[in-house]
Amino acid sequence: MFAEMFAQLGKMPDPISNEEYRARQKSLYKSLNDDDLLILCSANETIHSNDVHHPYRTQSNLLYLSGWTEPDAVFCAVNKNGDWQSHIFVQPKDTLKEIWEGRRPGIEGALADWPVDFAHSIDDINEKLGNMVSGSSRILHRMGVKSTVDNLVVESIKRRDRARQRLGTGPISVEDPSNRIAEMRLIKSDAEIAQMQFASDVSSLAHIAAMRHGGGEGATENQLQSLIEGFFRYAGTSGWSYPSIVGSGENATILHYKENEDKCLDGEVVLIDAGAEFRGYAADITRSWPNNGKFTEPQKAIYQIVLDAQNAAIAECVVGRPYTAPHEAAKRVLAQGLIELGIINQTLEQALDSENGQLKDWYMHNTSHWIGLDVHDVGVYLPDGKPRLLEKGMCLTIEPGLYFGAWRPDVQCPEKYANIGIRIEDDILVSDKGPVVLTSKCPKTITDIESIVGNKS
Ligand code: GLY
Ligand code: MN
Ligand code: MN
Repeated sequence: MFAEMFAQLGKMPDPISNEEYRARQKSLYKSLNDDDLLILCSANETIHSNDVHHPYRTQSNLLYLSGWTEPDAVFCAVNKNGDWQSHIFVQPKDTLKEIWEGRRPGIEGALADWPVDFAHSIDDINEKLGNMVSGSSRILHRMGVKSTVDNLVVESIKRRDRARQRLGTGPISVEDPSNRIAEMRLIKSDAEIAQMQFASDVSSLAHIAAMRHGGGEGATENQLQSLIEGFFRYAGTSGWSYPSIVGSGENATILHYKENEDKCLDGEVVLIDAGAEFRGYAADITRSWPNNGKFTEPQKAIYQIVLDAQNAAIAECVVGRPYTAPHEAAKRVLAQGLIELGIINQTLEQALDSENGQLKDWYMHNTSHWIGLDVHDVGVYLPDGKPRLLEKGMCLTIEPGLYFGAWRPDVQCPEKYANIGIRIEDDILVSDKGPVVLTSKCPKTITDIESIVGNKS
């Protein structure tokens, strides 16, 4: 089955080129002073249990500027006589370690194949990075990622502080570079969009596979999860970009449900929120479908409202619109729909009120977040306190939903809609030709969904 799905995928895009990494570095250097030192650390590996580690995923800023994915790495850049030089500290080659734990590019590999000017062993970081710290006035470093480098910066500052009285030079401030890099990461290049498109295509096919597997006796949530995540790996992505949410019936009304262990029952709606990560770039898709292949009338009514809200929100993903416009559009359609069904007994304006409006009883999250190297990607939403205006190359999700958890003690759930949980989520690229739905290969109309669920052919 996976082979047939795989055949539907387009060609894998080329990886991000070293020229592009170099261009990103150069663009960041433009905003720095000549006596700055930029440091980007990867986080340490974390323990799953005893001596077993979680699969390693590096820090996205380091990945964005260097493409380096191995653990225990530090990227830095200093200016020498007017030219910026990039350095990377990496795990050195070590035959015994490589026999047990896997190959390492090492210093030689880093220099040969990565967009850096110098490479060093991570074992030499105290001396070599310490010297660079001492020679700089401002350190651009995010504290709290790697304690060894934090300590090194703090100790160097203390040392330089003492020496400064004699030399008159030394680091006088430490600044987090994350926001500068976030500004760059907000606008995706063509090569980044190609990675995201592949992640989206793989994820779309995986959702279709889950829909096809549904129907009949009904699968279990974990079986649907295994199909989806199995295809993520089959197709050559690294796996999920966030833990998959597969919830049927009541479980679909829990926003970040994670157990994924129940049987999907006849008459229930299955909600799956799952996306692949490809070369670090995320996809994030939610689909909701009737487990027996046919929506009930109440399910259909709620589904159509959410779909209409999603389409209204997607139409707002246009250059120059505030990032809040999709959320406002979605909320209006959701509230109007619930008023017409008699679930909300307020006027439209009352229903939307942030304190007393009834919409938030059934729709309690935002409609969008940026997406890119992090599924909830970086980028300030309210620069200078005002909603950011959408620009060409920005990517965001559109994910309205309605959740009628009959188990909730805080609201009286209308019986007719008990335990219907619907979310529809796509990933949108803002382009100068209007919104581009990167996840458009994943079906979402009622007719399309009903024809696919349980359809094994
Ligand atoms: N999967 C988490 C989200 O949709 O934001
Ligand atoms: Mn999302
Ligand atoms: Mn999601």
